[in-house]
Amino acid sequence: MASKQRILNPQPLILSYSYSGNTHRIAKGIQELTKGDRCEIYPWQPYPMAFPELLRQVKEEVEHGYHPALLPGAPSPASYRVIFVGSPNWCGTIAPPLVSWLYKNDLSGKLLLPFYSHCGGVKADFRKDIAKLCPKADVREPLEVIADGGGQLKEWIEKWIQENEIMKQKYAG
Ligand SMILES: Cc1cc2nc3c(=O)[nH]c(=O)nc-3n(C[C@H](O)[C@H](O)[C@H](O)COP(=O)(O)O)c2cc1C
Repeated sequence: MASKQRILNPQPLILSYSYSGNTHRIAKGIQELTKGDRCEIYPWQPYPMAFPELLRQVKEEVEHGYHPALLPGAPSPASYRVIFVGSPNWCGTIAPPLVSWLYKNDLSGKLLLPFYSHCGGVKADFRKDIAKLCPKADVREPLEVIADGGGQLKEWIEKWIQENEIMKQKYAG
């Protein structure tokens, strides 16, 4: 019988939600370094374009712990052991589309590496918020990036990956 180790993917999964592109840019930087599989998630119902409406909707969703439906195509985490998960910091926490993905998938035993983009406003604690949603996962300290990280992005990703000894983690098994 094939062992469980053999069916796990040797690469990490890098999954991100982004409203205006910054978080996807961080995800692409992580992919370049780790050579992982990258995937973007999208809510079924796009968010409003106008900021006041967007903010009102996001505040409501965050307050009520709403999990928006996602467009099909979001990957299953089953075959990965190491998963990078990113979204913007929205109202001091994870953006609801990423909450939906974390909520609906079984992430027990996975190593979760959060990353997020922010504007220097209300601070977030992605490690705590993700650990609450995925109590059986090993959730590490996040990579926090202002906007899209500009010219320093690569350096910040490298430092974070080094600090967390991510490259030494066995991706599979
Ligand atoms: C609805 C909304 C709420 C936000 N809340 C915060 C916040 O609480 N703290 C913060 O630092 N930035 C906040 N931001 C700024 C975004 O995190 C920032 O613009 C980020 O770079 C956007 O990433 P994206 O391009 O991947 O969507 C908020 C932005 C929006 C649209």
